[in-house]
Amino acid sequence: MKILVTGATGYIGSHTVVELLNNNYDVVGIDDFSNSKKEVVDKIKEITKKDFKFYEGNVCCKQTLNKIFDENKIDAVIHFAGYKAVGESVSKPLMYYRNNIDSTLTLLETMNEHNVKKIAFSSSATVYGKPEKLPIKEDFPLSTTNPYGTTKLVIEGILRDLYKSDNSWSIAILRYFNPIGAHESGLIGENPNDIPNNLMPYIVKVANKELDCLNVFGNDYDTIDGTGVRDYIHVVDLANGHVKALEKILKETGCDAYNLGTGRGYSVLELVNTFSKVNNVDVNYKIVGRRPGDIGACFADTSYALDKLGFKTTKGIEEMCRDSYNFVKKSK
Ligand code: WQD
Repeated sequence: MKILVTGATGYIGSHTVVELLNNNYDVVGIDDFSNSKKEVVDKIKEITKKDFKFYEGNVCCKQTLNKIFDENKIDAVIHFAGYKAVGESVSKPLMYYRNNIDSTLTLLETMNEHNVKKIAFSSSATVYGKPEKLPIKEDFPLSTTNPYGTTKLVIEGILRDLYKSDNSWSIAILRYFNPIGAHESGLIGENPNDIPNNLMPYIVKVANKELDCLNVFGNDYDTIDGTGVRDYIHVVDLANGHVKALEKILKETGCDAYNLGTGRGYSVLELVNTFSKVNNVDVNYKIVGRRPGDIGACFADTSYALDKLGFKTTKGIEEMCRDSYNFVKKSK
C-alpha cells in the first residue's frame, strides 16, 4: 500500500512517516519546508533504515500534485500540511485561509481526478472551543476563536459535504489534543526556530538555557493548582493513531471524527515539575496573567477512538518529558 503524506517533514508528519514505514507501508512525502527542515528526510531514513519517495513542493500547486499522482499509484492520503500557529493566524488570517483551505481543496480535487478517495485529515481539539463539560466527546458542539481553528472547522465541513456528495469516499478526521515528545532516537522532534508559542518547546528552551524564564499564563483557573490543564499526547502515540485511522479508511467508506488524546489532563505546573524531575534540570518560571483566548481545562474522552479505531495511547507524561529534552540535547 502506498500512502501520500503531505507535510511529511513536519513535527507530526515526520513521526507518522516513521511509523508507516515501520508498519511496511510505502510512503510518498511532500513538504515545502516552510515549517520544517530538509534534513528530516534523511533522519527518517536513518531511523527506519528504509527509503521513501519525497517531493519538495507546496500542496497548493496542482501541477506538483498531478505529477505525484501520475508518477505514483497512491492508495490513501494523510494530510498534515498547513500553518498551525494560533497567534500568527490572528495577525495574518488571509495567509491562513488561503494556505490551509486552498491546499486542501487542491489536494481533494486532484485525488478525485485520480480516483483516490481515502484521506485522513489532521484536525485539532481547538474546534471544540470552550467545552461545556469534560472529558470532551466527538459529538460536542464545535466552535472556534481564531482563524487557525476556523480553517480546521471549515475543512472538516468540506470533508463532510464531499462524503455526502459521494459515499465512495473514506474520510477520517483526527482531532489532536496537545502533541509533545519526540522519537526515542532523538533524531526527529519539535524544535521551533523562533520563540515558541507552545508550552513544551518553551520549557525545553528554558531548561536548555536558550531562554531565561517560562511565563506561566495564569494560576487562577478552576484546576488542581490554578494553572491550565491540557491532554498531552506523545507524538509517537499520535503517529500510531494515524496508522490505526489508515487501517480504517483502507477497509471501509465513511466520514467520521476521532479524538486523539490520552484522556488524562495535566496542569502547566505538573508538566514543569515532571520535566524537571525526569531530566534532573531546573526550569525557571514565573506566574503572569492569563493568555487571551486560553481555556482553563481540556482533555479527551478516548472511548470512541478505542472502539472505532482500536487506538489507545501507551506513553506517559514522564516519557513525553524525557523524549522532548533528549531530542534538543541531541540536536545541539
Ligand atoms: C498549553 C498550556 C497555556 C505557553 C495550542 C493550539 C492547538 C494545538 C496545540 C495545533 C496552556 C500554557 C503555554 C507558555 C504557558 N496546536 N502555556 N506558558 O494553547 O492548549 O493549544 O497548541 O493544532 O490548536 O490551540 O497549547 O502549548 O500553547 O498551551 O503557561 O509559554 O500551557 O496557557 O494552559 P494550547 P499551548
